[in-house]
Amino acid sequence: MKIVVAEKIAKAAIDLFKQDPTWNVVTPDQVAQKEQLLEQLKGADALIVRSAVFVDAAMLEHADQLRVIGRAGVGVDNIELEAATRKGIAVMNTPGANAIAVAEHTIGLMLALARFIPRATETMHAGKWEKKSLQGTELRGKTLGIVGLGRIGLEVARRAASFGMTLVAHDPYVSPAIAHDAKIRLADRDEVLAVADYITLHVGLTPQTANMINATTLATMKKGVRIVNCARGELIDDAALAEAVKSGHVGGAALDVFTEEPLKASPYHGVPNVILTPHIGGSTAEAQDAVGVQIAHQVRDYLQRGVVQNA
Ligand code: MLT
Repeated sequence: MKIVVAEKIAKAAIDLFKQDPTWNVVTPDQVAQKEQLLEQLKGADALIVRSAVFVDAAMLEHADQLRVIGRAGVGVDNIELEAATRKGIAVMNTPGANAIAVAEHTIGLMLALARFIPRATETMHAGKWEKKSLQGTELRGKTLGIVGLGRIGLEVARRAASFGMTLVAHDPYVSPAIAHDAKIRLADRDEVLAVADYITLHVGLTPQTANMINATTLATMKKGVRIVNCARGELIDDAALAEAVKSGHVGGAALDVFTEEPLKASPYHGVPNVILTPHIGGSTAEAQDAVGVQIAHQVRDYLQRGVVQNA
């Protein structure tokens, strides 16, 4: 077997592939340049990626015997699924493995918005003591609107409940029993957006979810609403949200994901009350170990026994 690991993953994951001494494991340092990756794809049985490598039809032309692509993470939007399917290549991901990491980052961003933590830090480093202008608000008693109640959304809900927040969520696929057990009221998306003090997005990118936060939906939200996005940048119309924060209609936004990554020129730059982090929601030591080891197990089981998980 030839396994091409195109991006850095947990050592334990690489070791799992290397357990069989006959397996040829190509490591990320050997495919750091795109030409090297294309060359190594020849004869490869499996390709492992995180989010930086874009696997498109042109790349797959070089993969003459690829059977499986493993995405260490949740979103598979960096893989051209149709092109993979056309070539009979299975695509697997690791839903759930980084859910706690993303949920904790989401809660961290909500607290950072509520207590102006980035501004407090900046002003302190500048030698200022701006105690008066930094009076915050509590999460307790506020309504959290969760769009997408999958593994991450549910973990966010559990943590937000412990802060005394009221939970309302939209997810057409979730079982009402799960929502009921977690004390979450289900509602349609428009209602969630309209009643929430905080909105957090936990849906994948699809034609139905793209641009869901736009000038029209922003206008329906409560004045002062705070919006957190640790899902996908394309869910938000950036120009509209930046304007809404500048006008004060939106009280703050905390964004971890962007349509173009790495983020370069952006309407958010310099806007007060916009917190930006570089897609680190799933970047904890624990989560990266978990996604790497999980995808390695799935890919190995597929190659050895044809077992399909999370495809
Ligand atoms: C995911 O899709 O798993 C998260 O956005 C984190 C990542 O991109 O790896």
